[in-house]
Amino acid sequence: MKLTGKLPAPEQAMLTKSVKTIVDQVDAMKRLVNEFRDYARLPSADLQPVDLNALVSDVLNLYESDRATVAVQAQLDPRCPTIMGDAQQLRQVVHNLLQNAQDATEQAAVSAGAPAGTLPPVCISTHWNEISRRVRLTVTDHGSGFPAHILQRAFEPYVTTKARGTGLGLAVVKKIADEHGARIDLINRQEEGVVRGAQVSLSFAP
Ligand SMILES: Nc1ncnc2c1ncn2[C@@H]1O[C@H](COP(=O)(O)OP(=O)(O)OP(=O)(O)O)[C@@H](O)[C@H]1O
Ligand SMILES: [Mg+2]
Repeated sequence: MKLTGKLPAPEQAMLTKSVKTIVDQVDAMKRLVNEFRDYARLPSADLQPVDLNALVSDVLNLYESDRATVAVQAQLDPRCPTIMGDAQQLRQVVHNLLQNAQDATEQAAVSAGAPAGTLPPVCISTHWNEISRRVRLTVTDHGSGFPAHILQRAFEPYVTTKARGTGLGLAVVKKIADEHGARIDLINRQEEGVVRGAQVSLSFAP
């Protein structure tokens, strides 16, 4: 900085701090603008036969190498036929859902004061329903569930409870689900009236 060394120490410290605040805010704005651009520009889906089980396994390979604190378990139904899907968009769906499930698990542990390293894994599963003839992709976690005021609006852009969240993750998932003609369901899993976590599922036609 040009002024470095020319200002008395307190002013120098103040200047350094202010510049850092500006740089950080510009970074946050850049991120928001980029995410918004990707959301608004999301191209229409290029539907091809996709093996959803293989696609999920591929994404999970990435998760294993990145030392995430919340493990991911897969339960893939080998009877699943291929679905008509856009592989790139479906990877994005899996990623956004796993990210949310891991965030929720970590947040619940922080609020409960649980020690690190004992977090319950997130589960991703596929299931072929012969009667409805749909392939269902489900992500389940043991977090605190969707806050009541979010549950109805979670697909709206910019709806977030996270300090660093854009609120676009589920908006993108919804947009991609619509492109695929997939039904999407969000629920809080309950046992004896107590919320045990969240579950998001999409069902695809073969
Ligand atoms: N698995 C979950 N459990 C509990 N709450 C969830 C879960 N997934 C999403 N939510 C809630 O829905 C909100 C919106 O999620 P969304 O993915 O759209 O945005 P985000 O996660 O906040 O931001 P980003 O995706 O940019 O990190 C979250 O802020 C959170 O409150
Ligand atoms: Mg998200």
